[in-house]
Amino acid sequence: MKIIPIQSSFSNPMPESVLDDTQTAGELRDRLGRAVHDLRISVTDRCNFRCVYCMPRSVFGSDYAFLPRKELLSFEEIVRVARRFAERGVRKIRITGGEPLLRKHVENLIEQLAQIPGVELTLTTNGVLLPKMARTLKEAGLNRVTVSLDAIDDATFRLMNDADFPVASVLEGIDAAKAAGLGPIKVNMVVKRGVNDQGVVDMARHFRGSGHILRFIEFMDVGSSNGWKMDSVVPSREIIERVGAIFPLEQIDPNYTGEVAERWRYRDGSGEIGVISSVTQAFCSTCSRIRLSTEGKLYTCLFAQGGHDLRSLLRAGASDVELDRVIAAVWKGREDRYSEIRTANTAGLRKIEMSYIGG
Ligand code: GTP
Ligand code: 5AD
Ligand code: SF4
Ligand code: SF4
Repeated sequence: MKIIPIQSSFSNPMPESVLDDTQTAGELRDRLGRAVHDLRISVTDRCNFRCVYCMPRSVFGSDYAFLPRKELLSFEEIVRVARRFAERGVRKIRITGGEPLLRKHVENLIEQLAQIPGVELTLTTNGVLLPKMARTLKEAGLNRVTVSLDAIDDATFRLMNDADFPVASVLEGIDAAKAAGLGPIKVNMVVKRGVNDQGVVDMARHFRGSGHILRFIEFMDVGSSNGWKMDSVVPSREIIERVGAIFPLEQIDPNYTGEVAERWRYRDGSGEIGVISSVTQAFCSTCSRIRLSTEGKLYTCLFAQGGHDLRSLLRAGASDVELDRVIAAVWKGREDRYSEIRTANTAGLRKIEMSYIGG
C-alpha cells in the first residue's frame, strides 16, 4: 500500500507563498474541508504516572530530559494563542499534559482562558490531585474534567500506571470533581489486551448508575516508545459485545458531529458508555482538533512528526494579524488523516509522544 505523508508539515519560517494566500477572517477550512473547533493545550510534559501505553518507565525514567521551564509557553502566551483560535471558530479548549495539574498555578491559566467568550473549558487529568484542586479549578471557571482510569482492580491499575498509585486515589479525585460541580465526568480507560482487558466488565459494573460516562479507548500507536502492536488492541466491537452480554446496550446518537466517542446506553436506563475506535474505525474525516504543545508548537494531528513553531513568533513580537495569518496557513494546509492510512509501516514512524503533544 502506498503511504501518504502524515502531515503537510512545513518547517519554520513559513514559506511566503503559503502566507500570501491566507485568508485572515471568517471560518477556516483545511484541505479536506474540516473546520477547527477544538484546541488542545498541553501545559506540561511531566507526569506523576508512568502509564505503560504513554510514558513507559524504560524510556521516561530518571534520566529523561523533560523541557526546562523557560522553554514552556507562559500563561500569557497561551491565552494569546487561544484567543486567536477562538476568533477563528474554536469552541472547546481542553487543557492536557502530561499531567496538567502539575503545572504550577494552572488555575491562573484557567481563570484567564475562562474569560474567552463562547468557549467550553475542559481538562484531562489522571485525577490524583483533584481532591486538593477541584474546587479551585471550578472557581477559576473550568467547566468539566475527564479522568483517566485504566482498571478498577488495584493490582492491575498499579501495573498500568507503574507508579504505585492505588485506584482509591483516582476515585477520590472523581468524587471531588463531582462535588465541585465539574461533571458530567468522563472516565477514560485505555484497553490493552492481556494487561487490563479482563477488567472491562468490572469497570462498566462500577460506573453504571454513577452518572459518570465511562469510555473505552483503543490502544493507539501514538508516539514511538510504547511498543504498540495491533495484537494489543481490543477492538471497540469486542468491548461492546463483552459489556452488552452482561448489561444490554443500545447505540445512541452523537452529541455533535465529529464526536470521537461512539455512544451506547444501558437499556435499563442506568447511564451510558462510549467507545473510542481510533484504530479500527478512524474518525479523521470529521477531525476538528488542533494541538498546542507545551513549548508552543502547533500540531495538526496527534500522530504528527513535526509541528509549527509559534513560540518564536510570539517572542519576536508578532502582531495579532501576523499570528492570524500563520494560524490560518497552518490549518488551511492541513491534510492529516493518519488513523485512516495507518499500516504496519506507519506505526513504526518516529512520532511525537502523547505526553508532550497532549491527549
Ligand atoms: P469530550 O467529548 O468533550 O469529552 O472530548 P473528547 O471526546 O474529545 O475526549 P477526550 O479528549 O477525553 O479524548 C479521549 C481520547 O480519545 C483521547 O485521550 C485520545 O486517546 C483519543 N482521541 C482524542 N482526540 C483524538 C484524535 O484527534 N485522534 C485520535 N486518533 N484519537 C483521539
Ligand atoms: N492510546 C490511547 N490513548 C492514549 N492516551 C495516552 N496514550 C494513549 C495511547 N497510546 C490517552 C488516554 C489517557 C489520556 C491522557 O491520553 O485517553 O486517558
Ligand atoms: Fe500521565 Fe496521562 Fe500519560 Fe498516564 S496517560 S502517563 S496519566 S499523561
Ligand atoms: Fe485527527 Fe489525526 Fe486523530 Fe485523524 S489521526 S482523528 S486527523 S488527530
